[in-house]
Amino acid sequence: MRITTLAAAVFAGGVSLIAFSAHAADDLNMICSADPEVCDVMKNLFEKQTNIQVNMVRLSAGETYAKIRAEARNPKTDIWWAGTGDPHLQAAAEGLTQEYKSPLFDQLQDWAKKQAESAKFRTVGVYAGALGWGYNTDLLSKKGLKEPKCWADLLDPAYKGEIQIANPNSSGTSYNTLATLVQIMGEDKAFEYLGKLNANISQYTKSGSAPVKAAARGEATIGIVFMHDAVAQTVEGFPIKSVAPCEGTGYEIGSMSIIKGAKNLENAKKWYDWALSAEAQSHMKDGKSYQLPSNKSAAVPKEAPKFEDIKLIDYDFAKYGDPTVRKSLLSRWDKEIGAKAN
Ligand code: F6P
Repeated sequence: MRITTLAAAVFAGGVSLIAFSAHAADDLNMICSADPEVCDVMKNLFEKQTNIQVNMVRLSAGETYAKIRAEARNPKTDIWWAGTGDPHLQAAAEGLTQEYKSPLFDQLQDWAKKQAESAKFRTVGVYAGALGWGYNTDLLSKKGLKEPKCWADLLDPAYKGEIQIANPNSSGTSYNTLATLVQIMGEDKAFEYLGKLNANISQYTKSGSAPVKAAARGEATIGIVFMHDAVAQTVEGFPIKSVAPCEGTGYEIGSMSIIKGAKNLENAKKWYDWALSAEAQSHMKDGKSYQLPSNKSAAVPKEAPKFEDIKLIDYDFAKYGDPTVRKSLLSRWDKEIGAKAN
């Protein structure tokens, strides 16, 4: 198109160009790293309450971290809501996220505040949940298998091909599992354990909750996941029982971060404050999300696995939220486990 024709076209389309930019100012580009159902519930509620249009994609936490790193010079995302805290901390450490202290900060649980303080307010906790697994009770009894109660039990050769877990490169759940096992056993023993466990794994999925969804459908017997994701399948009526491992287990502080260079910064802050409110967090269960909310006044779903009932380790968020530690653990996983996966 020649310049004169282009100018005429722009002039002729002036009204709609203005309309487009006015509309864009009411947008928010969000990556949601929770399950698609709760992502939709939260997006719809926020849109209804604020008239801000949310352009949302669902990506696992490790995938999101990789994406915002790749786009650091020209960010396409304004806000990253949910997903395990480790990659949020890794992004914060690399200066990929923006400092922000919400006026709702004082309403939060100590663990959520600590998450923010340790990252100089470049992230904040939105929920918490413990790691474990869910198994299909029907399949287990049909196959004559014992109930797996401990991490050690999962190595029983009787479970060959019966277990699924996600890939720790893409999934925050699986990275959290890797870090948990390293903290419980020590790094060399944890990799030895994962090497043996590999013999029982039928599939390394991309998303963290996929293994227990497969178990609910009868495509796997055991899915190593956050316990609240196992509970979500039980609530749906599937024969899934959730287990808190006997040796102890790790947990996530699901987090939220504003992306450095966000094009819609004011809207990102609006989401941020809204998502920390007791009212918004009390709606997470409408999306079948059963984590523990970070706002002290939010309703705790009665189905949520409670920390008092679980043997939790003192998960070292600072260490496992460090980008160098992530890189080293994942490259060892790729070499020793991923390369040998079925
Ligand atoms: O929404 C379910 C959930 O398990 C969250 O609690 C967690 O933060 C997220 O999914 C992790 O997903 P992924 O393992 O796919 O990164």
